Amino acid sequence: MLLLLLLVVGSCATAASAQNASFPDDFLFAVSTAAYQIEGAWDADGKGENIWDRMTHEHPDYVDDGSNGDVACDSYHKYEEDVEMIKSLGVDIYRFSISWARVLPLGDVSQVNPLGVEYYNKLIDLLIANRIEPMVTMYHYDLPQYLQDIGGWPNPVLADYFREYARFLFDTYGDRVKWWLTFNEPTSICMGYGQYRMKAPAVNAHGFGDYQAAHTMLRAHAMAYRVYDQQYRPTQGGQLSITLNSNFYQPATNSSEDIEAAERALQFNLGWFAHPIYTSDGDYPAVMKERIYNNSIKDGIWISRLPQFTAQEIADLKGSADYFSLNHYTTNLAEDGEQADQYPSHEWDTGVVTSCDPSWPNSSYNIMKVVPWGFRGLLKWVANEYDTKMGIFITENGFADTGEINDTGRQNYYTSYLREMLNAMYLDGVNVIGYTAWSLLDNYEWMRGYTLKFGLYHVDFNDPNRTRTPKASAAMFREIVATHTLPDSGAAMTSSHFA
Ligand code: BGC
Repeated sequence: MLLLLLLVVGSCATAASAQNASFPDDFLFAVSTAAYQIEGAWDADGKGENIWDRMTHEHPDYVDDGSNGDVACDSYHKYEEDVEMIKSLGVDIYRFSISWARVLPLGDVSQVNPLGVEYYNKLIDLLIANRIEPMVTMYHYDLPQYLQDIGGWPNPVLADYFREYARFLFDTYGDRVKWWLTFNEPTSICMGYGQYRMKAPAVNAHGFGDYQAAHTMLRAHAMAYRVYDQQYRPTQGGQLSITLNSNFYQPATNSSEDIEAAERALQFNLGWFAHPIYTSDGDYPAVMKERIYNNSIKDGIWISRLPQFTAQEIADLKGSADYFSLNHYTTNLAEDGEQADQYPSHEWDTGVVTSCDPSWPNSSYNIMKVVPWGFRGLLKWVANEYDTKMGIFITENGFADTGEINDTGRQNYYTSYLREMLNAMYLDGVNVIGYTAWSLLDNYEWMRGYTLKFGLYHVDFNDPNRTRTPKASAAMFREIVATHTLPDSGAAMTSSHFA
């Protein structure tokens, strides 16, 4: 009898593991890139200058290796090879971004660059001919310089410019593009105005410029969504969202102060953009409104440094996404306290001291430790906090090394993070519909230049031909996509933290 019981329990356990190791049949796999990081051809065929061209040319000293994206992976000329690589991975979707200044050199629709427009037409058509769906990010950090010259994102008029740019993209590509994303990581974009030298345009307006930039982007997103919903969706039938990103924050201790600090860090980073869109109350998170107002008044400023939405803007933002697009890389410990290089600032207002546990494995990027269980923690938090019934699409996740072909670190990262994502899906009931690896190929890593590599494909940046070579992780990812199953499926599936 005991033997029978053991056999039954044993076979149930095997069945549970097997189920947990495989992805649902309709689960979508993707790979991702961004225009400035791969295209090069920075001034070719009528492209306008953008803020990354300007900053890296005027201030190479801001970038770790003094480099820029002038040539990068030369994907402007090598997109056919890129599509071959994407096809060989067998993924359903390619997420890439459009360079605003390549299609509209001045940022507004008065001047269209036909050759730039043609480049994306050719890319999109080739993807579709190869049964790969395009997922298009409209804005991945590269503002036309002309729009920065009038103040950039802190200037509210940029929301109108963005709406017209979005309309232009729907008109031009919307017959074939069914997955749209307005902004990639608006919190990172805000660093260009709030955290000196972290991103272009490197404007030092911490604690003011970043909140204003965020406000304009949120208004711009809502405008683009409403235009799409009312004027394009009926004929084009696509879906639109905004890519948000967050680390997971684990309380450093069990004290109520640290538990609140971890929650506050999530609200100040992810909630800043997610609360207005995915909650029934809408608007910024209450904790942000309260703390930033109090800090502003304490400093004798007559209004809060956090701008206010009108009732109409709150209504337009609520529900302005058809799926939840989430980027995630790493986890921090969170402790109540003050940690900020500058005052006033977003970090100061957050009031959280972040750190990493020394036992967490490193990647080559010092701010990105390998903490797979944090991915599950974040997914649970998101599902608990927001309306995610339309599904969460992981639009970036990846690992930095220095470009090894036999990239075991990346393989371990992907398998362990995917395993925790499956745990979130099967054990916590989180509705994840797709997963995107960052990145298809090694590319220009912003302020880190070419010192860090995230690709499934190696790129030889010393070779004028920018030769691409598949890494071991590319073969592994292809296998995962093809089988819809993680390798080593018999291994223990339950994470230590959330068992
Ligand atoms: C960005 C990518 C970047 C990656 C790795 C994300 O925040 O969207 O452009 O390359 O992180 O740092």
